Amino acid sequence: MEVPFNREYYTGQEDIYIKDVIKNQRHTKGDGYYTEQVSALLENKLDTNKVFMTTSGTHALELSTAIIDLEPYSEVIMPSFTFPSTANAVLNSQAKPIFVEIEGETLNIDPQDIKAKITKNTKAIMPIHYAGIAANMDQIIKIARKHNLTIIEDAAQAVNSKYKGKYLGTIGKLGCFSFHSTKNYISGEGGALLINQDDPKLIERASILREKGTNRSSFLRGEVDKYSWVDRGSSYLPSDLLMAFLYAQLEKMDEIKNLREKIYMRYLDEFNVFLEYDFITSMSNLTKDRETNFNSFYFIFNGKQYRDRAIRELKKRNITAAFHYIPLHISKMGKKIGYNKGDLPFTENIAENIMRLPLYTDMTEQELNYVVKNVKEIFREL
Ligand SMILES: Cc1ncc(COP(=O)(O)O)c(C=O)c1O
Repeated sequence: MEVPFNREYYTGQEDIYIKDVIKNQRHTKGDGYYTEQVSALLENKLDTNKVFMTTSGTHALELSTAIIDLEPYSEVIMPSFTFPSTANAVLNSQAKPIFVEIEGETLNIDPQDIKAKITKNTKAIMPIHYAGIAANMDQIIKIARKHNLTIIEDAAQAVNSKYKGKYLGTIGKLGCFSFHSTKNYISGEGGALLINQDDPKLIERASILREKGTNRSSFLRGEVDKYSWVDRGSSYLPSDLLMAFLYAQLEKMDEIKNLREKIYMRYLDEFNVFLEYDFITSMSNLTKDRETNFNSFYFIFNGKQYRDRAIRELKKRNITAAFHYIPLHISKMGKKIGYNKGDLPFTENIAENIMRLPLYTDMTEQELNYVVKNVKEIFREL
């Protein structure tokens, strides 16, 4: 048997909605019927002010940093343990990403280190919610209020997760989602920017920057009689074909979450015993305040040699387990902007010791049994 790390899941309605676009809507460009449906679905379910669908999570992040008008000397604090897009969104706005440590409990940004890295140039904090589990938002909000900083949640992995009852992505002023094929809800490539405050100016700015720097959205709403170039901008609108696909996924948001929960709970049940072993430091868990969307399941080993051996042994048995991230501060680009190995030792240690197991929505009972049996066998040998 072969168990991939991830597999795309389809609800069965995707092709029906796509056919509807082609046969009935006859509107494949951006902001059509299905874009309206998915935006409204997200606004209602998550109880947020405004959702702009985008071509990717990366573009949602780029749009978020573009609308808060960063200056070349502006600094934006984020974890180094994240995907390059978080940092690129800041670099592409000509500002500077400032990397900080993560906490061991959630692998998310460490509020103590945020405090330590704030300067007079700090403008924003970008927490990510790793593996769909919330960062310490209470602390982050407290710090942001004290220093008048904007919070942009990189909730790429955290669609349909909560922190103390509130959906992730809706807690900061801005939130960003990804619908990339590796996420829980997919459109191949896709994303969304959430504006969580009733701020008409910011919403207008986002609609202009998303539409090539034009006031086309106002024109389509009949507010102006022609549209033209009014600001900088780019093209962040996804085709309505993609949004038709995504609508089929988002309609089944909670069903998909429930299917993933079963796999996650089985892993938790089966592997809990290994927490007593010396070679495991921690693994994914559940807490009342941090309701996960069951995006991924990970182990932190007590030594890179154990992690590498586990991945190698699983691979021999045709099971793909994965590690990541190369912390941004020690990547080629991180070094180019002035960081070095040793700057964030805890982050570096986590990156060397993490292993993620296959977890996808339609994982079969046989696949799950096969992974559980082999992980247990390998762990007993470690
Ligand atoms: C934390 C984080 N931020 C940003 C992204 C980028 O999203 P996308 O692939 O949709 O551009 C991803 C995922 O790939 C991610 O995990």
